[in-house]
Amino acid sequence: MTTPPVCDYEGSDYQTSFWEQGGRQYEDRAEAIALKRLLPARGELLLELGAGAGRNTPRYTGYERIVLLDYSRTQLQQARARLGNSPRFIYVAADIYKLPFIDGLFDGATMIRTLHHMAEAPRALAQVRRVLQPGAVFILEYANKLNLKAILRYWLGKQSWSPFSREPVEFEKLNFDFHPAAIREWLAALSFTIQKVLTVSHLRVGLLKRALPAGLLAGLDGLLQPTGALLQVSPSVFVRAQLPGTSAAARPANLLDFFRCPECGAGPLQDQGEALLCTGCGKKWGVHDGIYDFREALIV
Ligand SMILES: C[S@@+](CC[C@H](N)C(=O)[O-])C[C@H]1O[C@@H](n2cnc3c(N)ncnc32)[C@H](O)[C@@H]1O
Repeated sequence: MTTPPVCDYEGSDYQTSFWEQGGRQYEDRAEAIALKRLLPARGELLLELGAGAGRNTPRYTGYERIVLLDYSRTQLQQARARLGNSPRFIYVAADIYKLPFIDGLFDGATMIRTLHHMAEAPRALAQVRRVLQPGAVFILEYANKLNLKAILRYWLGKQSWSPFSREPVEFEKLNFDFHPAAIREWLAALSFTIQKVLTVSHLRVGLLKRALPAGLLAGLDGLLQPTGALLQVSPSVFVRAQLPGTSAAARPANLLDFFRCPECGAGPLQDQGEALLCTGCGKKWGVHDGIYDFREALIV
């Protein structure tokens, strides 16, 4: 199966260089406010797509268990070092376009700062839809092409692409901004209902960030976030969407029964200690350092 290219964070110091030393305390706190407003109070099994180094994971307090999924093993290793080796966290290295889970497994999912790396966003969203139960909640953050800065630059003739058209814009290799109407259309096509929209990072302006403390800016951002229900012109948008129905099916008791082969879709996989064997296609998937690795099959 051919899948779109992946923006690979393997070996990246993204968490330190972008977040901890990159002057992004304001954005981080503003996202925390948005997540608090959108997350359900309780849940059983959450899938965090593009979890990175687990920056947001401690915020998912209502969920009993969390699967941190990322393409980068080193991001997951960093997450594991930060969050610890608790049975509450399950670490999975895999491609979002080929999720290694059985259908209808999760009652919640989040995808923060990750859709913007998807060259085929509807295809990625369809995978998320597949692994969610009826009634599941999906919190999606996306980078908004219809943001004020892009609109001004376009009107002043400093930017060639139109922020008003629906197609995604690739502003840098494998980095995409999306139009809110396109996101709405894709979610509706997958039968998600949008319950809440918050606009985030309204005050992402160098001058403001230098002049005002991050906590104050985040508090002001919190006041502006609900305006997202009417108009989305901030650089980042958070959406809470839900699938119809309620789930009656019981989740497998055994963690290994959560998985299916990302290549052929067969399951369950056979536990071989250091590897999981797909009896459908014969591929073996490694398990090392507490990470289930579905990136490439082992060579046997
Ligand atoms: C910008 S980081 C965001 C990390 C985290 N969500 C956060 O907000 O701190 C994007 C993450 O998405 C992951 N990613 C990108 N493409 C992916 C794919 N196709 N499958 C799985 N993970 C992917 C990257 O490895 C990276 O860790």
